[in-house]
This record gives sequence, C-alpha cells and structure tokens, in this order.
Amino acid sequence: MRPISQSVVKKDHEPKITGTSLYVGDYDNEGVLTGKFLRSKVARAKLISVKVPPLPEGYFYIDRNDVPGDNNVNIVMDDTPVYARETVEYIGEPIAMVAGPDGKKVDEILSSIEVTYEELTPVLDIRKSETVFFDYEFGKGDMEKAFAEADKIYTEEFTTGYQDQTYLETQGMMAVPEKDGKMFVHGSLQCAYYVHGAVMRALGCGPADVHILQDVTGGGFGGKEAFPSILGCQVAVAAKKANAPVRIIFDRREDLEFTSKRHPSLCTYKVAVKDGKVTAMDIDVKFNSGAYTTLSAVVLQRGIICANGIYNVENLHVRGRALKTNTTPTGAYRGFGAPQTFFAVEMMMDHIAKDLGEDSLEFKEKHLVKQGDGTSTSGIYHFPVPVPDMINEIDAVCDFRRKHKEYALPQTGRYRKGIGMSMYFHGAGFTGSGERDIIKAVCRLHKYPDGTVEILASNGEIGQGLRTTFPKIVAKELNLPLEKVYYNHPDTARVPDSGPTVASRSLMVVGELLRRCAIKLRESWIDGEDQIAEEHFKEPDFVIPFYLDKFQGDAYPTYAWGVNAIEVEIDTYTGLTKILGAYGSFDVGTPMDYNIVMGQMEGGFLQGIGYASMEYMDYDSKGRIRNNSFSDYLIPTAADVPNLKCMLHVEEYPDGPYGAKGAGELPLVGAPSAYVEAMEQALGGKVSLNHAPFTPEDTMKVIMKEGI
Ligand code: MTE
Ligand code: MOS
Repeated sequence: MRPISQSVVKKDHEPKITGTSLYVGDYDNEGVLTGKFLRSKVARAKLISVKVPPLPEGYFYIDRNDVPGDNNVNIVMDDTPVYARETVEYIGEPIAMVAGPDGKKVDEILSSIEVTYEELTPVLDIRKSETVFFDYEFGKGDMEKAFAEADKIYTEEFTTGYQDQTYLETQGMMAVPEKDGKMFVHGSLQCAYYVHGAVMRALGCGPADVHILQDVTGGGFGGKEAFPSILGCQVAVAAKKANAPVRIIFDRREDLEFTSKRHPSLCTYKVAVKDGKVTAMDIDVKFNSGAYTTLSAVVLQRGIICANGIYNVENLHVRGRALKTNTTPTGAYRGFGAPQTFFAVEMMMDHIAKDLGEDSLEFKEKHLVKQGDGTSTSGIYHFPVPVPDMINEIDAVCDFRRKHKEYALPQTGRYRKGIGMSMYFHGAGFTGSGERDIIKAVCRLHKYPDGTVEILASNGEIGQGLRTTFPKIVAKELNLPLEKVYYNHPDTARVPDSGPTVASRSLMVVGELLRRCAIKLRESWIDGEDQIAEEHFKEPDFVIPFYLDKFQGDAYPTYAWGVNAIEVEIDTYTGLTKILGAYGSFDVGTPMDYNIVMGQMEGGFLQGIGYASMEYMDYDSKGRIRNNSFSDYLIPTAADVPNLKCMLHVEEYPDGPYGAKGAGELPLVGAPSAYVEAMEQALGGKVSLNHAPFTPEDTMKVIMKEGI
C-alpha cells in the first residue's frame, strides 16, 4: 500500500464524538417556524377542495399557489411538483405545509384541515402499470441465431424489494430569508448544487439570490441525493411567504414512508446455452419508480448496463423500463440500480450451472470478462480484471471451493449449511459522458497568506470521509502537514460546482481534480500571498465516447471489483438463519485512508446483507408503506454478522488520485446473490430461489413445502 493509505484521525472525529457538530436540528429555535406537511391520504385522486380554518397569528398555510416561480422541482426531469398540483399521485404526497412557532399547534391546525378528494383507481403493481417513464434498449451480436442454435434455453424471473437508506439522521432542511432579499437554505443533503438549481427555479430567481449550505449530515446513502431538492423548495417557498426562517425535520415514520428508497425490480432472463456455455442473454428489466420520475432514468441506466454481470455474453439484448405506480417515488440508494440486476444475473448463472450439473463457481469462471474484452455497451474493459485472484483470496480465507461442493451433498439434521459467492463491479462516476457533458466539475484551492489551504468544492461529507481524504490528497501534493489543509461543508455562495456527491465519484473524479489543482498551486506558490488555483474536469483520452441514444461506448472509464462469499446455517425448526461468515474482497484501487475504506467496505457489505436477508418493506392494499418503524423494518447490526471479513485487493487506476477508484457503493452490490445462493444450497438446492430479501418467513415456506 502507498503512504497515503496510512490512516489518520478523521478531521470531523472530534466534533462528532463530542456531540458538538451542528446538524440542522441543532440550530437555535429562536424565531424559527416549524413546518409540517398536509399529506395526501389517498394514492390517487383529483383534489377537489382543501378547507383551511382561520389561522392564528404567526401561522402560515403554504401550497402550490404560493410558489413564486415554477411548481416543478428541477431533478432529472421536472414532473415532481413542489406542492401537489390538481391531483395527488401517492399516499403521503405533500399537498401543503403549515408552519408556525409551536409544533403542537401546527399539528392541531393540520388535523382540522378538510381535504376533499375525487378518488381514482391507483396502480400499485408494476406488472399492471401502463405508464412507462423510461424505456431503453441495447444489444449486440445475433440473438436469433444464438437462440436457434442453443442446446438449451433457460427462462426465469427475479424480483427484489424496497430498501430504505435508514441514515441515522432523518431528512431535514431549513430556509432562512436574508436581509438582502436572498434565500439561504441549509440542511442534511448530498448535493448542494442540485438544491441550488431546484430552489432557484421554484423561487423564480437568479443564481446569486439563493445559496445552499450542507450542514453536518448524518448519512445519505443516496437518500439525500434528490430528496433534499424537493424539501429545499418546499421550505424555501414557505420561508418566502412567512418572511421568517422555516425548518422541517421528519420523524422516522414519515421518513420511512414518504422518502425515496431503492427501486423494487422485476427482471426476466432468457438465456441460451450451447456446448456448456452461455451464448446469449435476452434480459427484460423493470423498475418501480413510484409516482414521479425523480432519479429513475439514471438508476435504470446503471441497472441495465450491469444486467449481464461480469460475463462475456456475445449476443445480448437488454431492455429496461422504469414504470409509474401510485406509490412513494423511489430513488438513489448505494449501488444505484446495480444491486438489482447483479442479483438477477448471479442467481441466473447459478441456476443454469445447477441444471448443467456443474459447480456454479467454475461455471461463472468460464465466462468471466478480462482486460481488453468488450462491455455490455460495446465499450472496453481497459484495465486488468483482478477477479480470478480475488476469488482465490476469498477461497483462501473461507475454504469456499471445498465447502461449496460439500454443502451441495444431501444434508440431514436440524441445522443445514450453505455457501454462496457473487462477483461484480461498480463503475465509478456518472454513467456515459455525464461527467464530460453534464457535470463539468470545477474545483479550487484557496491559499491564504498564512500558508493554510482551503479546498473549495461542492462534495459533501456524508460519513464516507471526504473531509479527511480530500485534504490528505492536497496536503500530500503540496508537501504540507494535514492540519494546514481543510475542507468545510460546501456553501454554494463560496464554492464552485464540482458536481454532486453521488455515484462514488467524489473521491475518484474530484479527488483527482484536486490533486491536479494542488500541483498547479505548488508550481505557482509564493510565500505569504493570497492565491487561488482552479481546475476543470478533463475526460481521460482512452475513453470511448458513450452515446445514450444508442447505449454504446464506455459506460464508465474504469471499474471497482468485488467478490463476496457468505456462509449460512439454517435452523430448520425455526427458519432462522445464522450467518457463519461473510467474506469480501474489494478492489477499489489505492485506499486514500485504510480505516476509512475498510469502514466503507464493512458498512456497505452489511447494508447489502440487510437487503438480502431482512430488510423487508411493502405497501398495503391502499398503497401505503406498512413498514414504517425499526420494529417493522429490520436492519442488521454488527451483532447479526459477527464474522464479517473484508480484504482489499489493489489494482491501481492511473487516472484516479494515486491510483484510487470509486469505493463507496461497491461493497453493497454483491451481497444479495451471495446470500440467497447460500440459502438455496442450505435448503437442499432443489428449489430455485429468485427473490431478495429472503427472510425467515421465506425460509419457513420452503421448509414446509419441501418437507425439510
Ligand atoms: N458512507 C457513509 N458512511 N455514509 C453515506 O451516506 N453514501 C454512499 C457511499 N458511502 C454513504 C457512504 C453512497 S450512496 C455513495 S454514492 C458514496 O459513498 C459517495 O462516495 P464519494 O464521496 O466517493 O462520491
Ligand atoms: Mo450514491 S446512491 O450515488 O448517492
């Protein structure tokens, strides 16, 4: 490992540990109005009337008529309203806000408001949805020929459920009208400039009239990528009307029911096999977008690019659709569409191997991509693919190959064991030419006369360590002690737009930009002077341009790689599963800080295990999310997976800082298939499991049905 990987005390360690960090809920209440939403009680309706009683002094009712600019939130598309239009599209949709000095009084007012709806039949099930938000299609080779010549054709359907980000700090935003007429919005968020663009549009004002600050943020995991843009507009409109600061902070129930979560998926695979090898895949991917498009286009793009896994499939056809339902809009969650399709393809490969009487690991190994091979979108894997070595590393720590064969033999007794493996990648940065054409990141370094250097960028610390790793990179390049370089939470009034904190891009893309910026500053350094250096994104020369209309080219410049194994023991009396071990080998290039990266790997892997095994969330017959508390929606703790082992395999990326690649999302992606494969083996291997999460109830169903 390189010297930069040596761990340091995180820059925000002290205030977080001592409780002095200022979260949005910690600002003084003095003069701040508490806002709460009047939410739709039905999944789909025309709004006929809203009867608001006379309000006491100092209390405000805010709805779409108060939006000074455009009542559309600027996300990828603009169909999400700031406040509901003439219709409501899901249970919980904000129709209006009531704001006032006393939160209890606000509740009272809300309960006295009468809403009359003309109810329409909601569409809840994606299988019945006829509203296609996005529809993409791509492929290569000769599908007809491959299927005509196949020895065998396999068809199977896979489903995955919701997953909620369950950050420790719920969503919260605050808007403060400033003396000069500007609007200041701050809160818990990942992408200050996204909120900036959205609030500008809702208020109908110019870029200088609004500024956005990220407060200390208690985790985002994608959940604070687009949602704060909506909430930011809602509080800004309220603060404008009240001409006073307005803050809104969700309680956990509200957060679980009404904020974005991972898209449930339905994937159908049709696979041709000839001479023991996969020759073609015809894949249909459907994601449940909920009521508005929000980030579905980009989540779906990433999902379908990964749909053939890390296997060479010469003849490929992929179609992906994001469909509307009258449910809470879904959005970004660590992995961004990839966990869904990687689950499906890994299970598919496993099931084909089983049918062919082969060991699934050996079957997968026969199909693995390597450096120089073509990607699903006819790009190229430009860099080494270290997966075979990583498989061996996993095998060395958990004896995978032996156990995998042993557990496949008939088992008896109360406890049954299984082990499963997944292999996958995560492409860092925006999909396709997004970094070059849409984001166009800019960053600056400000050197003060006393020799301290401030990093000016718009990426947010959300627990992934940027306030430490960014300064480490800059300090190293400037040969300065780490104390001399600092990175504050971004305020759009002070920092350039270096893009959002998403897609595991900040460290790899912006980190490299900062490194280059530091070189510039070093080369022009004059002691005692106030200096600024600036850098702009430049795409590496080797990248094959990506065309979204054809879905062709390099979807990502490079990939982080993962191999996971999970070993389980099922108690056939209770249906409960004990995880005997979870092993992950991760290649995220050079770690910018060993402890931070290991924290990312362990945390992400555990989130993936939760997604695989216990994080069950569904809506009721009316379309309301039922699992709205931590007693109904279970997330894993360290105690659930005591034997979790993560290892780093370093394949340096020349265009990332000191060889670093995007790290944040990778570790979540492969857990579901490794877990469900293990469960399938422990359950005797005869039934093909095809959904995640696979809960104890699901286990019990198989036990009863199979007479285990
Ligand atoms: N780790 C912590 N502790 N908290 C988070 O909110 N978000 C994840 C991941 N790791 C997250 C996290 C997600 S969704 C992303 S996209 C990446 O961090 C962002 O990493 P980056 O800063 O390199 O872009
Ligand atoms: Mo991460 S899901 O891209 O915020």
